[in-house]
Amino acid sequence: MVYQSGHQLTPVLHGINLSIQTGHIHLLMGPSGSGKTTLLSILAGILTPTSGKVFVLGQDITQMKKNELARFRLNNIGFVFQSFNLFPALTALENVEIAFNLKGVATKDAKVRAAKLLDEVGLGDRLNFLPQNLSGGQKQRVAIARALAGDPKIIFADEPTASLDSQSGQQVIKILYKLAKQKGCTVMIVTHDPRIIPIADRITKIEDGRIQTD
Ligand SMILES: Nc1ncnc2c1ncn2[C@@H]1O[C@H](COP(=O)(O)OP(=O)(O)O)[C@@H](O)[C@H]1O
Ligand SMILES: [Mg+2]
Repeated sequence: MVYQSGHQLTPVLHGINLSIQTGHIHLLMGPSGSGKTTLLSILAGILTPTSGKVFVLGQDITQMKKNELARFRLNNIGFVFQSFNLFPALTALENVEIAFNLKGVATKDAKVRAAKLLDEVGLGDRLNFLPQNLSGGQKQRVAIARALAGDPKIIFADEPTASLDSQSGQQVIKILYKLAKQKGCTVMIVTHDPRIIPIADRITKIEDGRIQTD
């Protein structure tokens, strides 16, 4: 991957060759600026690589048309961001409900399923709270519920515990782990947090845009 802004070219990833096994919790670790977010975004189909191929569920996503890729992402991929990315004017329930709506689940059914997911992440008593009235850990759990809406096959999480205190960070990881295993999701987590290591099936370390150990 080479970023281009004007005439400035910034090579960021070099000769990446990586397979992620179905059902695994796969960690991607490495120093700040090493290309973790870039790689995760490429794998999730958010960013198109300058060269190379990315096969997700057997399909080369770099060959897909924009609409096709958007639909593919919607049906198969959930994404959890460091900064939660919740809609501030929507309640916890509505933030999850809208993900179901986008996936074509009818309104009434979406509400029931969103409430069930929020209950599973321990927020059954916070359904009607706005994000501003939730703690960081609670917001991240809403984001996990949203990412899991409609049972995606793959979850990508970019430093999901980075802006949380250690206790809520632990709790968020436990929930992500439990739900992913229960639902048979493949999960790739970018993290600096060594406490996540015990739940990993596999760890890839990246430095200066190159895989160091896998
Ligand atoms: N849109 C962009 N344009 C140019 N350079 C970028 C862009 N996004 C990231 N970079 C650069 O790519 C490198 C890797 O960034 P990133 O993938 O965010 O690393 P990490 O997530 O490991 O901290 C950094 O040097 C960063 O400055
Ligand atoms: Mg990053």
